[in-house]
Amino acid sequence: MGKNIRVAEVTNLLQLNKDFISKVKMNTLFNENPNRFKDFSIKYSGILFDYSKNRINHETMELLIRLAKNCNLEQKRDDMFSGEKINFTENRAVLHTALRSKSSSPLIVDGVDVRPLVKEELDHMEAFSDSVRNGEWKGVNGDTITDVVNIGIGGSYLGPDMVCNALRAYSDRNIKMHFVSNVDGADLAETLIKLDASKTLFIIASKTFTTKETIMNANSAKSWFIKETGQNDISKNFVALSTNEKSVSEFGIDKENMFKFWDWVGGRYSVWSSIGLPIAISVGMDNFYKFLDGAYSMDYHFQQAELSKNIPVIMGLLGYLYNNIWNLQSYAVLPYSQYLSKLPSYLQQLDMESNGKRITKTGHRVSIGSGPVIFGEAGTNGQHSFYQLLHQGTKIIPADFIAFKQNLRGNANHHTTLLSNFIAQTEALMIGKTRNKVLKEMRAKGFKETEIERQVNHKIFEGNRPTNSILIDKLTPFSLGELVAMYEHKVFVQGVLWDVNSFDQMGVELGKVLAVQIEDEIRRKEADEINHDCSTVALIKELL
Ligand code: F6P
Repeated sequence: MGKNIRVAEVTNLLQLNKDFISKVKMNTLFNENPNRFKDFSIKYSGILFDYSKNRINHETMELLIRLAKNCNLEQKRDDMFSGEKINFTENRAVLHTALRSKSSSPLIVDGVDVRPLVKEELDHMEAFSDSVRNGEWKGVNGDTITDVVNIGIGGSYLGPDMVCNALRAYSDRNIKMHFVSNVDGADLAETLIKLDASKTLFIIASKTFTTKETIMNANSAKSWFIKETGQNDISKNFVALSTNEKSVSEFGIDKENMFKFWDWVGGRYSVWSSIGLPIAISVGMDNFYKFLDGAYSMDYHFQQAELSKNIPVIMGLLGYLYNNIWNLQSYAVLPYSQYLSKLPSYLQQLDMESNGKRITKTGHRVSIGSGPVIFGEAGTNGQHSFYQLLHQGTKIIPADFIAFKQNLRGNANHHTTLLSNFIAQTEALMIGKTRNKVLKEMRAKGFKETEIERQVNHKIFEGNRPTNSILIDKLTPFSLGELVAMYEHKVFVQGVLWDVNSFDQMGVELGKVLAVQIEDEIRRKEADEINHDCSTVALIKELL
């Protein structure tokens, strides 16, 4: 039987299963099976992944695993790890996993063993970050570095920013980290206001070193630095993270101060590469190695664990279930940790730039939806913002709740309150509140029957909202590495199920090209009426 037919058959069975499950309350499923938590949870390393509060039964999971097998998930996973050119539109290997691997057996890409290259660059990062941290590295006037400004956007910003924020408790507080990404001049200007040029290290992070926003910000930073210090020598205050040696040296950065990575590292998967230099400076190379080790641990789990006990596989399959069988469009990521407040933004790029695709490997349109809309916010902040919609809105939004058992900083009392909210929300989303319960409560409070009738419907919660609970022992560089790699592999699994290329990003091109044309028209002070619709022309003219 052909692959497509097998996939279609499982999809039909999943649809029938959904028709049944949609009539059953999750609560009932829990009452019927006291082992439901045990059956639908996985423990790996310091992570407890509880997926029992989902709209599933054993049949659902068996069908999903069958689907994964029919889509050759295991073979495709192994192809990625072994350096096959699975980024088929750009003809590139996808080897961010090599950046954190502990294997010493050669890994050949285009005739070159990449293992020694990775090691060499890690050594380079270690020597440099150590010298900045211990004060040996001096700025142009002989000053110790007190501030680091990372100039980069997308994958050259979101990962390092998210991780530096997440690992603040492990950071050297004498070195302040800043991130400038937006081409809005205010971003750079507001950052520079506070800084002493000679004590500032600029890290220009760009895989291609052609990204307009980054190059513009880098040039403006260079002009500011030269003006402030009165020196043309930028070699002590500017370094680059890139794959493009030629453009880096044209910008004026010494080859010695360029930290390399390679085209087989996708931008949104590059936090493990030299793009992680700000992290190494902030928390030290030992902690950066632990971060890599955590990711390696998750790679190991993803490769070794059987599909039904494999956290990223189950996460990917559940996401597929809601997206494609339940036709739900959105997905929320809700970390109950202020340290992880930037995780949702990071995952937006990881997930939406990877699987926001509509054409399959065979060149056809995907038959059903691909990547979901990802959004989120740290708990408990989100509870006072959009959770209303999660609880009582007409849309069902599956969600990942993430928390750490141990408190890192601050009053332990707060942590108990935080974790109580983490647990209470998933329970509330599942059990909801019935009409009878609302009536009982209102009567107990002495409301008049007319008032009860007026309010009762507004107080009912349907419940049955699906969630995963991800409870991790403690936020450490290691566990953060595991968590981030877990989401990378979840995204990979879904890309396989949809048969899309999760590793290119052609969709960002069109806007970029048009922006160049419009910028030219604005600068020439004329809008080309032939090439634009009347709205676009009017907007340009309004500016002129
Ligand atoms: O938004 C498109 C994109 O190419 C991302 O994939 C990438 O992370 C970002 O731009 C930045 O690219 P670069 O690191 O080459 O400056």
